[in-house]
Amino acid sequence: MPLTQAREITAASRLTNVRYAIRDLACVADEVTKQGHKVLPLNIGDPLSFDFQTPPHIIEAVHKAMRDGKNGYAPSEGVHEALEAIRGEAARKGITTLRDVFVTTGVSETVDVCLSALVNPEEDFLTPSPDYPLYSAVLCKLGNRLNAYDLNEEDGWQPELADIERKITPHTRGIVIINPNNPTGSLCTREMLEQIAELARRHNLIVFSDEIYDKLILDGTQHIAFASVAPDVPCVTFGGMSKNYLVPGWRIGWGIVSGDAAAVKSYTEGVHRLLRARLCANHPEQYAIKAALEGPQDHLVEVQRKLRSRRDLTQKWCEATPRVSCVEPRGAFYAYPRIDIPESDEVFVKELIRQKHVMVVHGSGFGQKPGTQHFRIVFLPDEQTLTRAYAGIADFIREHYS
Ligand SMILES: Cc1ncc(COP(=O)(O)O)c(C=O)c1O
Repeated sequence: MPLTQAREITAASRLTNVRYAIRDLACVADEVTKQGHKVLPLNIGDPLSFDFQTPPHIIEAVHKAMRDGKNGYAPSEGVHEALEAIRGEAARKGITTLRDVFVTTGVSETVDVCLSALVNPEEDFLTPSPDYPLYSAVLCKLGNRLNAYDLNEEDGWQPELADIERKITPHTRGIVIINPNNPTGSLCTREMLEQIAELARRHNLIVFSDEIYDKLILDGTQHIAFASVAPDVPCVTFGGMSKNYLVPGWRIGWGIVSGDAAAVKSYTEGVHRLLRARLCANHPEQYAIKAALEGPQDHLVEVQRKLRSRRDLTQKWCEATPRVSCVEPRGAFYAYPRIDIPESDEVFVKELIRQKHVMVVHGSGFGQKPGTQHFRIVFLPDEQTLTRAYAGIADFIREHYS
């Protein structure tokens, strides 16, 4: 018999604002599934849930590594051949002032390590709004104040420079740009990258450039790496295997540190201290990095063909549907349409799941300007599935708001 009644064990209060709307909606979808309905999932950016397959030579490289006994702990920074391959990739991206590379458990861990190694409690870090919610989640976990800058929908979702400048304080340490962007599918122009570099120089900021979708460009242009435009500016370029090489479950990402050598030295040492403390990234999967980056890239042609066709279908639907408008996505596999409705986009999205069994994510889960409502579409499913889903959304809008 216990002598005292057990007291509630509460979670840390700094977790109050840690949200991940993309997965939080799963509870509503579970409800609908239990009632016997099939939910059309336009919410999670996992190509392997749809008609995309991992290139076989990448699987073989990991299989071989396992058979060759690469199953113990790896070096904390990553295995030698993977680091060499990432250095080669940095050179192909036009990064000339390479200072360091390291392998992580997905870009998710690159984000965590790079922010944790940077910010002191009273400092802040500029994140875009809308943003990929992991950035604000990690900052909340660390107990730091959020400092979001706007992306400008009227300017094709380019970062709003005046807003960035307004938000920089003596406590601001850096800025993240997500390019191609999740959730908007936008690409930063060269001029924009140059202007952000100028701000970084003036205010002594480090730039994190999340380029996890850099090979999924849909408008025939060449992706421009921030670090190639601003070789002197302290920068960590984030890259990974999840999206470009269709293995999100392997959890492999990396960071490429560039910029003035003296400026990034102490910070890079801090990053490595954290990398050592968490031992290492997945070991055998790291042997896929060289195979992926240096082997055949044929799968990308097919992936881009499918994504372009699905993007076009999505854009056409947005243009034809009353109350919906959308800046055309140019990269990745997301569209972020604006919707003109009298209630919140969270209510819209939840009711859409319940009534039409279509799952998209509400804009308030990513951030948006007050007074605007959006939802994020993942256009990875095939054309037939997308057409069915869009018919469901159009019916819902007609039934509720016409
Ligand atoms: C912009 C962005 N960064 C990072 C990640 C995390 O990727 P990973 O699977 O490498 O952890 C995602 C995943 O969707 C993403 O969209």
